[in-house]
Amino acid sequence: MVIMACMKTIVILISGGGSNMLAIARAALLHEWEEKLNARIAAVISNRPDARGLTLAADMGLTTQVVDHTAFADRADPRTAFDDVLRQTIDSYEPSLVVLAGFMRILTPGFVVHYEGRLLNIHPSLLPAFPGLHTHQRAIDAGCRFAGATVHQVTTELDHGPILAQAVVPVLADDTADTLAARVLTQEHVIYPQAIEAFLKAIG
Ligand code: GAR
Repeated sequence: MVIMACMKTIVILISGGGSNMLAIARAALLHEWEEKLNARIAAVISNRPDARGLTLAADMGLTTQVVDHTAFADRADPRTAFDDVLRQTIDSYEPSLVVLAGFMRILTPGFVVHYEGRLLNIHPSLLPAFPGLHTHQRAIDAGCRFAGATVHQVTTELDHGPILAQAVVPVLADDTADTLAARVLTQEHVIYPQAIEAFLKAIG
């Protein structure tokens, strides 16, 4: 009797450019995640209908969906109302792993707890330094000689949680937030797919 292992499904959440999502989708193809890890990207979901990443995902043949956070603005508790619909949308794909890839919404604790242990994020700083926004300008202003990015498991505390991977880049004397961000982003594209692949192997 042949026993088929259950396919591991990945849902990726984006808000904008989608370059990390693209790096992950390319790694999935190149490293044959479906054949070798029994894992596939089931959907890419954006909270912004105009996110460029949606087009990139569709071009890769991936299923895309939008849950527009602005549609919940007039609710009594807009964050919870949005997260509830987002959770239902994600859960329709029965995900083994939910990947935040430039997803720029702060998630409610209830949402995070629901995906505990299977929710990953990439943050553009060397956590625990510089959680939150404007990480590159803050690193420059603080006189940091090095900056970078962190892949971590998501916990209810913003930009905290067990660290799975980090990449370090130098901060150059003439760096602006934009030039530093671009240098960091190239490394994000390396460590995020690697960390996801390692995570998929670990969950078996
Ligand atoms: C990336 O630099 C990512 O680390 C950052 O947004 C960018 C998204 O780029 N994420 C955060 O700041 C989350 N707090 P992308 O859409 O091209 O992947």
